[in-house]
Amino acid sequence: MKQEHKIFQGKTLGILSGGGDTPAINSSIEAVRNRASFLGYKVYGIGKGWKGLLGEGEVVDLTNQRYDGWYGGTALGSSRTNPFPSKKNPENRVPQILRNLERYKIDVLVTIGGDDTNGAAKRLYESEGIPVIGFPKTIDNDLRTRTIFHNDGKEIESVLCPGFPSAAMSIAELTASLRTTAESHSRIIVLEVMGRDAGWLTGTASFGGATLGLIPEMEITRERKVVLFESIREAYMKSRKKCLVIPVSEGVRWFDEKTGKVDVVYASSEVDEYGHPRFGGISGIIASEITRKLGIEARAQISGYYARSGPCSPYDRRLTETLADKVADLLLREDYGQMPVMKVMVSYEELEEFNTSSIDMGTIGNKPLPGDYYNVEKFSFTNAYFDFLSLILGKPNLEVFKYDFPVVKPA
Ligand code: F6P
Repeated sequence: MKQEHKIFQGKTLGILSGGGDTPAINSSIEAVRNRASFLGYKVYGIGKGWKGLLGEGEVVDLTNQRYDGWYGGTALGSSRTNPFPSKKNPENRVPQILRNLERYKIDVLVTIGGDDTNGAAKRLYESEGIPVIGFPKTIDNDLRTRTIFHNDGKEIESVLCPGFPSAAMSIAELTASLRTTAESHSRIIVLEVMGRDAGWLTGTASFGGATLGLIPEMEITRERKVVLFESIREAYMKSRKKCLVIPVSEGVRWFDEKTGKVDVVYASSEVDEYGHPRFGGISGIIASEITRKLGIEARAQISGYYARSGPCSPYDRRLTETLADKVADLLLREDYGQMPVMKVMVSYEELEEFNTSSIDMGTIGNKPLPGDYYNVEKFSFTNAYFDFLSLILGKPNLEVFKYDFPVVKPA
C-alpha cells in the first residue's frame, strides 16, 4: 500500500514536562502526541524536563505507543532543572541542550510547564532559534492565561491551567470529607493548601463547604489578625454543628508575635534552580493560635501533594485535548514561542478549539487571585469565584448531617 504523505513526515517533535507534576500531564502528552503523529511527526518524550537533554540525554519514542492519559503525574518524569545559570547552579547548560537536540534530530519542542519551564523555552527560542510551543500546567492556576470569565455583565481576567481542575476537585472533596470529623469533635480544622503565592486552589475549598479562607494575596498583619479571630469566632458560633474547616494557603503571610514581623512559613531554607523556596507549616501555627486565643479546639491538616496526585478529572481531560487542538494549529502555522490558552472560561461542553487562543510564552508571568474573587473584609471567597468554579466543578458538596434528635431531659 502506498504510504500517505503527511505534512510533517520526516520531522521529529519532542515533548518534555518540567516543574511540579499535576494529574493532567499525561493527558496533555497523549493529546499532543496524537495530534503531532497525525500531522506526520515522529514523537519523542524527553525524560525529567530539561534534565533529559543534558549529558547523553534521556529520550523515548512515543510514536504509536500505547499511552494512558487518565493516569496522573507524568510518565516522562519531571524536574526543576534550569537550562540557564542560576544561583543554585551557575553552569550554562544551553550548549548541552543544543547538542542533544541536534543528536536526537528534534525539530520542534513542546514544553509542558509553568512560568519557569516555558520561560526557559521562550529564552531558547529567542536566543537560539529553537522552535518551541509551550503548554500550560500547574495546580496553582497562576499563569497569566488571560482567560476571560463573563460574570454579571463584568469581564474578569482569570486563569485556567490544566491540572487545576483536577486539583480543585480533590481539595473540594477533601474539605467536604474533613467536615464530618470536624463536626464529630466540634473542632476547627485548618487545612493547608498548596498554591505558592496564589490563592486560586485554596478557594476551591469553598466548594466543599468552607466559609472562611486565607490566601497569600492578603497579608495578615497585627491589626488584620484581631479582625480575623473575631470572624472565626463568629463563624464557629453560627455553624450548625460548631465546627469549621478553614483552608489556608501555604504561602499566607502571617504576623508573628515573637518577631513582630509578617512573613511566610518556610518548609526548608533550600531554593530550587529557579529561586523558589518551599513553603509549609502555617496551618500548625494558625491552629494553635486559634486554640490559645479563642479556646476552641483546633487541628492542622496539610493537604500537600494530595492535590497534585491521582487521576485526571474529566474536565482536565477535555481541556488538555482542546488545548492540544490549538497546538496542532500552531504547528501547522509554524507559529512558535506561543502557548495555547482558553480565551474564555467555559463549561465542560464548551471546551472547543474555537474558544482557544494563543499567547506569547514570554508573558505568562504570575497572576494572583483577582480581587473580584476574594472579600478581604470577610476573609471569604465571593459568589463570582463560586460561579467561576461551578463551570469546572458543577455543584458544590455542602451536605450536612440531615437529622436533629429530640433532647431528653431527666425525669
Ligand atoms: O507549583 C506547584 C507546587 O505544587 C506548589 O503548589 C508547591 O509550592 C510546590 O509545587 C511544591 O514543590 P515540590 O514538588 O518541590 O515540593
